[in-house]
Amino acid sequence: MKILVTGGAGFIGSHTVVELISAGHTPIILDNFSNSDRSSLKGIEQITGKSPLFYEGDACDIAFVRRIFEENTIDGIIHFAGLKSVGESVTDPLRYYRNNIDSLITLLECAKTYHTKSFVFSSSATVYGEPDVLPIPETAERKVSLSPYGNTKKICEDILQDVATAENSDIHIIALRYFNPIGAHPSGLIGELPIGVPNNLVPFITQTAMGKREKLTIFGDDYPTPDGTCIRDFIHVVDLAKAHIRTLEYLSQGQNLTYRAYNVGTGLGVSVKQLVETFEEVNGVKVPYVIGTRRTGDIMTCYADPTLIRNDIGWQSELSLADALRDAWNWEKNISEHDKK
Ligand code: NAD
Ligand code: UD1
Repeated sequence: MKILVTGGAGFIGSHTVVELISAGHTPIILDNFSNSDRSSLKGIEQITGKSPLFYEGDACDIAFVRRIFEENTIDGIIHFAGLKSVGESVTDPLRYYRNNIDSLITLLECAKTYHTKSFVFSSSATVYGEPDVLPIPETAERKVSLSPYGNTKKICEDILQDVATAENSDIHIIALRYFNPIGAHPSGLIGELPIGVPNNLVPFITQTAMGKREKLTIFGDDYPTPDGTCIRDFIHVVDLAKAHIRTLEYLSQGQNLTYRAYNVGTGLGVSVKQLVETFEEVNGVKVPYVIGTRRTGDIMTCYADPTLIRNDIGWQSELSLADALRDAWNWEKNISEHDKK
């Protein structure tokens, strides 16, 4: 299948492009490099030996996106392109609403015009807020969002549902709600490239272990959890990438569905302290840390019930936390080596 991958130069997009190619599909990448650069395209090429068709531009630019559809027969779309920093979204909400919602509408309009029937969207476990039920099933209530970023995901899910269920609509849409994607490709050739000080836990840990940061601050150890730190469901980015390929293949089998949302997680809750200890153990390096105060807006415990995607789509995670932390460290070592040159 020919698959348009918006945001295909980014962290999850680049890993998905690799998996698409190894499954025999033909990805076409659209990216404006607002949070990535050409190095990921080079990495994709080195891993797969193929250089996918690439369009540089903005997914909100309808004339540009139309051109891609005019020039190619697109069988499916994976829409990763979006801004994802929670903090930034609080200081600049309009940029987040414009980018994340406008790009979705643009893609959906093109899908309609050019009769592309399969659409996969990057949603997030952030839509559940502080959950009432654990592990979290897809039927859990979507809570009022604590950030404009989270709100864009909720609004996008609503738009997708309305569009898919409209009369005469022939599009089939799946929103994948990612839990916490971590790790990198085992080759060490693609991975996460945070700009500036990382907000997310694993890039902060790898940079600290590398000596780029003095120490990690664990945001609170006074939560009512076994070791007092927050609990998350950390999923290897390669497993997550494969979930997209399985989902597209499932949609292409002519499923009788309009819109559905699926969790993509391991189903395992891991605490922040456990993750730091596992990182130290598998990589044989120390991560100096201090305990700080809680981070505003943090959820205490969040892990997926991944039953639905396993039963319907036949996907489940295969890689371990140790695999993800080894691959994340390998990636950090590679980019640090590269930076030195
Ligand atoms: P990323 O920033 O690495 O990748 C996103 C890519 O989209 C970047 O290459 C960026 O340049 C591009 N992009 C952004 N806006 C664009 C636009 N208007 N036009 C063209 N390209 C544009 O992020 P990621 O971690 O790979 O996340 C991908 C998607 O998954 C995002 O929608 C994100 O919100 C969602 N998501 C990510 C996480 C996570 O922890 N990484 C969790 C849940 C959901
Ligand atoms: C965050 C976002 C979420 C987004 C996801 C991916 C918030 C509140 N949530 O999820 O909406 O989808 O990133 O971009 O920002 N931690 C530390 N020290 C650090 C960094 C993190 O202790 O330096 C802890 C956090 O308190 C949290 C856990 O590690 O308990 C995971 O944090 P992070 O990687 O930022 O992910 P989330 O907060 O789960």
